This record gives sequence, structure tokens and C-alpha cells, in this order.
Amino acid sequence: IKITIIDREGITHKVEVPTDMAMNLMEVVRSFELAPEGTIGVCGGMAMCASCQCYIKSNHELPEMQDDEEAMLSEAFYVEDNSRLGCQIHITPELEGLEVELAPES
Ligand code: FES
Repeated sequence: IKITIIDREGITHKVEVPTDMAMNLMEVVRSFELAPEGTIGVCGGMAMCASCQCYIKSNHELPEMQDDEEAMLSEAFYVEDNSRLGCQIHITPELEGLEVELAPES
């Protein structure tokens, strides 16, 4: 699927991501090196660091937040109404055309 990711410098990247690799959005950002090493995915995708926070810009219906994601976002910085943790967003065919922006590093 095609996903648009705006990095922390405001640069837009359109990437093609396979849906059969059980990846999440944080891993996509890492695999395309859209954020410097060590600034995203710090907790390894456990919903415990918020380094993978991103803003959902498109109107996709995403899976509901689980308690751990909600709890982490309730204490993270720069949280907006459309904030999600990238590591909790699994890449599925429904996300074709998704557009997200990485939250500032915190
Ligand atoms: Fe730590 Fe997502 S990688 S919360």
C-alpha cells in the first residue's frame, strides 16, 4: 500500500509498504530511515515511550486505541486529537493512502 509520511523536518515521503510483513507504522518509519536512529521506536514498540507518536492526517478509520496506548498518550508531549502511537498501528490493506505526520521529538 502507499503511505504518505511527513517527517519532523516537514518533508513529505510517499512510501510503498507491503501488508504481508506484519509491520507497524513505527517500523515503516525506521525501515525507510525517515527519522534519525534512536529518536523513534525507543521502547521497541511496547507503547511505553511515545517516540513513535504521529498525527493522522487522512480520514482513515483506524483500530481503536488499547488501554496502554491511551495511557501513554495521556502523558506524552505534543499530543493532539489525532495523535496515535505508530507502533500500535499495524499495516493492513485498509490503510491504503494513509497520511501521517511525525510528532516532534520529545
Ligand atoms: Fe515506544 Fe511506540 S515505540 S511507544
